Amino acid sequence: MARFTIADLAAWKKAGKKWAMLTSYDSVTASVFDEAGVPVLLVGDSAGNNFLGEENTIPVTVDELIPLARAVVRGSEKALVVADLPFGSYEVNAEQALQTGIRFLKEAKAHAVKLEGGVRVSEQIRNLVKHGIPVMGHLGMTPQSVNAFGGFKVQGRNESGDAILADALALQEAGCFALVLELVPAELAQRITDALNIPTIGIGAGINCDAQVLVWTDLMGLTKKPPRFARAYKDLRSEMIAGTKAWLADVDNQQFPAEAETFH
Ligand code: KIV
Repeated sequence: MARFTIADLAAWKKAGKKWAMLTSYDSVTASVFDEAGVPVLLVGDSAGNNFLGEENTIPVTVDELIPLARAVVRGSEKALVVADLPFGSYEVNAEQALQTGIRFLKEAKAHAVKLEGGVRVSEQIRNLVKHGIPVMGHLGMTPQSVNAFGGFKVQGRNESGDAILADALALQEAGCFALVLELVPAELAQRITDALNIPTIGIGAGINCDAQVLVWTDLMGLTKKPPRFARAYKDLRSEMIAGTKAWLADVDNQQFPAEAETFH
């Protein structure tokens, strides 16, 4: 089967079909999530705090993210792979955004890129789209601006929601094929979803977005302090600790390797 494309996502919006996107930062998890049927894999700059040991997404560089994106493309067969443009790699101007976008498509073979911001990045989006690079937008609590927001706080309560709606319309107008809404009230996410022809992908944005996205370590119960909007469907942290302890004990008691695991 061929990979999912942005045309599939557009068709699902028209048909009212819900779908999901999941982060991945390596080929092993990419192959697992691909086999499970996740149609869109996001090589998010959340790799910063979920893979590279950083405090947040801000220090992540293009050179760090490209090998991860390449691994996710190699590890998957059906998923559309979207890569984040890291902080500092697109804000300067439309030319800088294009140069970075080209690197992600050529060096990682990603199928699309994602960037954060509204009207202020619309020239960057236009330039990427004009040169054949599909762009996903990201509004609300955009993690690259966490210092400006003063923490991970819900955005768009009351009148400030109108500005986010205006940004969403600007992103659609600039050519985005979808956009992430992060940590916004469910009512605002519903208004934006109803107003747009392109799909909205919610994270902490309620049930009425066209799609949902989660960070895979939150979904699988690996994160020590997961955000309130996430749900762990497995407890991999406990499973992995138990498995590791069992192996350590077997090595200690000379129960590993057994005869079946030994060559003569
Ligand atoms: O970097 C990321 O993983 C993201 C998602 C949280 C949407 O941007």
